[in-house]
Formats: sequence, C-alpha cells, structure tokens
Amino acid sequence: MKYLLALDQGTTSSRAILFTLEGEVVAVAQRAFAQHYPEPGWVEHDPWEIWESQLWAAKEALRRAGVGPEAVLALGIANQRETTLVWERDTGRSLYPAIVWQDRRTASLCEALRERGLEGLFRARTGLLLDPYFSATKLLWLLERVPGLRERAERGEVCFGTVDTWLLWNLTGGRVHATDPTNASRTLLFHLETLTWDEELLRLLGIPKALLPEVRPSDGDFGETLPGLLGAPIPIRGVLGDQQAALLGQAALGAGEGKCTYGTGAFLLLNTGERPVWAEGGLLTTLAWHLEGKAAYALEGSVFVAGAAVGWLREVGLLGESHEVESLARQVEDAGGVYFVPAFTGLGAPHWDPYARGAILGLTRGTIRAHLARAALEGVAFSVGEVAWAMAGAAGLGLKALKADGGMAQNDLFLEIQADLLGVPVLRPRVTETTALGAAWAAGIGAGALSLGDLPALWREEARFLPRMPEARREALYRGWRRAVERAKGWAQE
Ligand code: G3P
Repeated sequence: MKYLLALDQGTTSSRAILFTLEGEVVAVAQRAFAQHYPEPGWVEHDPWEIWESQLWAAKEALRRAGVGPEAVLALGIANQRETTLVWERDTGRSLYPAIVWQDRRTASLCEALRERGLEGLFRARTGLLLDPYFSATKLLWLLERVPGLRERAERGEVCFGTVDTWLLWNLTGGRVHATDPTNASRTLLFHLETLTWDEELLRLLGIPKALLPEVRPSDGDFGETLPGLLGAPIPIRGVLGDQQAALLGQAALGAGEGKCTYGTGAFLLLNTGERPVWAEGGLLTTLAWHLEGKAAYALEGSVFVAGAAVGWLREVGLLGESHEVESLARQVEDAGGVYFVPAFTGLGAPHWDPYARGAILGLTRGTIRAHLARAALEGVAFSVGEVAWAMAGAAGLGLKALKADGGMAQNDLFLEIQADLLGVPVLRPRVTETTALGAAWAAGIGAGALSLGDLPALWREEARFLPRMPEARREALYRGWRRAVERAKGWAQE
C-alpha cells in the first residue's frame, strides 16, 4: 500500500495528513502556534515555530498511522499564502519574524505606489491590487527597515520566500530554494501569463532578483526530505497555495467550478480555465495551478476573517471552545438586529479597505451572548455572499451551488445561514480536509500515480444545505449589513 503525505501549513496551526491515493484520510496531526501582534494591525509568526510545528505534525501523522517513510510515495505542501520571510542563505537563520498575510503595516506604502499611478500596471501583470495583503510591500518594508538587509540581499546572501519556500528550504536542508506559480502569483511580483518574475515590477520596487526563489510547476520535482527528518528521504512532488490546493481537493477542475474554504479567512475561488479572466468588483485574478504541463487560472474573492471571528469570541471569553459557537448561536432564531463586521485586519474583497476595523452594531439591552455568536456567523456569511455575487456577475455565471470546506464547514448552522444568505445550496464534501487533500493529489500527480482526470470520480458529497429564507428577508438583512460595513470602513485612518 502506498500513501501521500500532505503538509497543510495554515495561519494558526500546522497540520499533516496521511492519505491513501484515493484520498481517504489515514491519520491527522495538528499543532497550533503563537500569533504575535506587536502593534495594532501587525501580525507576525516565529519562522522557527512554523517549521518545528510542521515537522512535528509530519512525524506524528506517520507515527499515528503506523506507516514508515518508505511507504510514502510523495509529499505535498499547501500553505498560508503571501506571508513573507527572509533568511540567510548560508545558515538558514531567519532575519525577521514572518510578516503574516493579515498584517496591515504597509498600508501607506501601498498608498504611495497608488499615488505614483502604478496600480493599473500591477493589476495587468499580476492580477492583484495594491494592498498590504500581498508579499511585495512586506518585502519592501523589510528591505527598508532591517539594518543591512538590502546590501546583503544585493550580494545574494539572503533568501526571500513565502511559507512553502521556507518549508522546502528546511525539508531539504537548504538544497532547494523554490516555489510554485500559485504561491508566486500572490507576491505582486509574478507575471500571470509568462509565469516568470516580472523584471519591470522588480525594478520599480527596487527588489533585488537574487532574493527570489526559482519557480517550478505545482507538480514539479522539489527534491526530497533530508533522510534524518522523517526516517528516510521522501520525494516532494507537489506545492500549492492553500486556497488553490482546496480548489483541487474539491475537484473543481473545469471553468465555472468553484469552492469556498472557511479557515482563518474565507476564500472563494472560481476556476476560469486556461486563460486569466480580469473582473471588476475587487476580485483578484490568480493562478489555480500549473499541473500536467498546463496553467489553469481562477478568480478569487478574499475575505480576511472567517474562523478568526469565532477564535476572537473565544479569546474574549464569550465561548469556552470554538465548536460551542454552533450550540450557542442556535439558542436564538436570529441575531436580534445585531451586525458583526469582522474587519479585524481591514476588509478584503469587494471593499479592499486596509483601514477598516471590526465593528458590532445594533446592540440593545435585550442583546445576549447568543445574538453575538449568531451575528459573528452571519458576518462571515454576509462577507462571502457579497463576494459570491460579485463573482457570479463578473464571470457571467448564475451561481448554482457553493462547495464549502475548512473548519467552519463542520458547523451545520453556519452552512444553513450561508445557504440562506446566498440563496443557493451549499454542498459539503465527505472529506472536508480539502486543502490537505489538494496538496496530496498534486504530489500524487507529480509522482505519476494520479492524473487530473482521476479526481472528479474521487470527490463525494456528504451533505447539502438548502436556502429557506424568503428573498425579502434576505434583502432586508443585506441592507443592514451594508450600512454596518460603511461604518466600519476607514476606522483606523488618521
Ligand atoms: O491568503 C491567505 C490564506 O492562504 C490563508 O489561509 O487557511 O490560513 O485561512 P488560512
């Protein structure tokens, strides 16, 4: 029997899942790690903790499965995207904490670039917007603020990478400094159509090319793990950004097929086929993958906070454990007029406001804990609803159903609310670990054991949530939501 090992390095935890080739889960291991908020709007991770928690999870998944490394055909990586790291090429020592995708410290740098009239150029080349979300301005900030970094970078002594690259570097003992096109496409430095680093954008930003990893296909040869790490070398044959991995894990292979993953944030991706599609409404154009020699593209609607809203309820003591949100929210029929805009780290699609901050509106003396829990779930569902409609309109598709996955997709009430606020059915697959599954399948393709054509037959629906809310009620709720969002916008701007 042969297996595929997926590493799913997310924003709040590192997971490893061992799968059979057909996509059955054999064993799971997960370790959470610390979030650092050194200043308002800043979010950092300790690079070493990312690596150590990921390595622990990989070993632990194999141990729990009772499977030796020689039975693992290939390893695949899916990772939180955009998060920016720099380290010494000689020693692998990281030179600054990882600046996390949620971090807003470069809002003014983005504004300055926009004032230079550069947004159109960046959008045309990369499919993205000038927002602190993406890696380039984080890297620029590091080059400007970390003493000596620019000079060392110009001498070729420093490596830049997103989390996939950092893991690859450590897994291979510094032999491989590489990434895949999906991760590269989130940096604001990668040309979407030539699939290469964009020299002009690098020049404009003053980013030395020597910093950048080599870009290999998502099912490329990324070397093998150092023998000492997992007991024997395992070939690394798949790398995808986590949202693209989930699109693959949902077997959304054809143009017009999509999914929404509810992790720390919620990310709706719609496969647009072999050509990039540019759309209005704050949607991003991005790589879906580069597999079997071909690139596929996607439209993306990025909502920065989903599970993080539930995490926050727990941190402030409104919940004991995150999973209690469902039973608490079920105690009330509706949110009692309360709106919760979870803009803790600004707003992504369709608003793109790095200065927005979270808001809870409509509180009365009759508001109880359950209303707040329900309003938090609704806040995530409203945010995804706005994006889903923008996307359906942009791609000229009537949205017929939404495939859901990720942590919040375990919450039946949440998916009921999502179906109601979307007005279309929400489908949950049997394996909700679609991010890890996509990474495993990419590695299986890279190892020659699977092909893209095999995947649709391996995807199975487990549950379907149908919309029950009358349209007039839905519209009234959205009117309230839009008013609440307007109040949250621009809050942190001086
Ligand atoms: O773009 C950020 C995204 O990749 C983070 O994913 O699963 O940690 O919410 P997640």
